[in-house]
Amino acid sequence: MVTETRPHLGHGVGLRVPHFDRALGPGLDVDLVEAISENFFGGDGRPMAVLERLRRDMPVVLHGVSLAIGSTAPLRDDYLERLRALASRIEPAWMSDHLCWGAHGPHHLHDLLPLPYTEAAIAHTVDRLRRVQDALGRQLLLENVSSYVGYRSSEMTEWEFLGEVVTRADALILLDVNNVVVSAKNFGFDPRRYIDGVPAARVRQLHLANHTDRGHFKFDSHRGAVPDEVWSLYEYVLERIGEVTTIVEWDEDVPPWATLRAQATEAARREAMRRDVTRVPKREREGERGGPP
Ligand SMILES: [Fe+2]
Repeated sequence: MVTETRPHLGHGVGLRVPHFDRALGPGLDVDLVEAISENFFGGDGRPMAVLERLRRDMPVVLHGVSLAIGSTAPLRDDYLERLRALASRIEPAWMSDHLCWGAHGPHHLHDLLPLPYTEAAIAHTVDRLRRVQDALGRQLLLENVSSYVGYRSSEMTEWEFLGEVVTRADALILLDVNNVVVSAKNFGFDPRRYIDGVPAARVRQLHLANHTDRGHFKFDSHRGAVPDEVWSLYEYVLERIGEVTTIVEWDEDVPPWATLRAQATEAARREAMRRDVTRVPKREREGERGGPP
């Protein structure tokens, strides 16, 4: 069931190895961190010491990259067991993975590939998602991936597909705002239609990141600061969906901590600004714009 009020954990960053020294020293001065689940399957090493230290200070969310929920290869019980063990040790606020496929037979493709947006793919994915949620004993958030290929067999838009999957499986959404911008450019749709089309009550978390623009297409590079186009769609999300826990992803050429932290602070600033604007009575806002008295 969708909860009436969405828990809001604030604004944070994706935890990466260059942050480990600071995490073990003065700590990371953000509201929360997101950790890649598979990087912490190793047991009692330094990564786990970092994660446990952070968990004492702040909420942690876990983000998986290899569930491949839409694949036809059987779900791996050993993988789910490792996820479950990690969750019981870290007690994350929630766990997520991607709405994609990435394995065929015994072969893992190490790519997050979009699915055909069909009724058959919905039924297949919903069945697997229910089984995963049962195994983990919790709702899972599914993230929209960036797309570079489509399928002639698709019967609906990506946002309709995402909405149907999470609604039928009673799951939640991790909405990657940058991935919407990337896919919108590559497939020629208005990114705002995507935001308008997802079931808002199921959006539990956002991702912000940068992408690389090659002119005739964009790809999801996670290198550099969040660009204006993503910030402006983020503001549209805040307007249409409301305030949502937000994580900034920066994976290539990871900058000094202060630079990365400033990105999370900027997300918080834009959210607070929007809150101030919406608190001003509508009549006053219209008056300021020179609208009707
Ligand atoms: Fe993402």
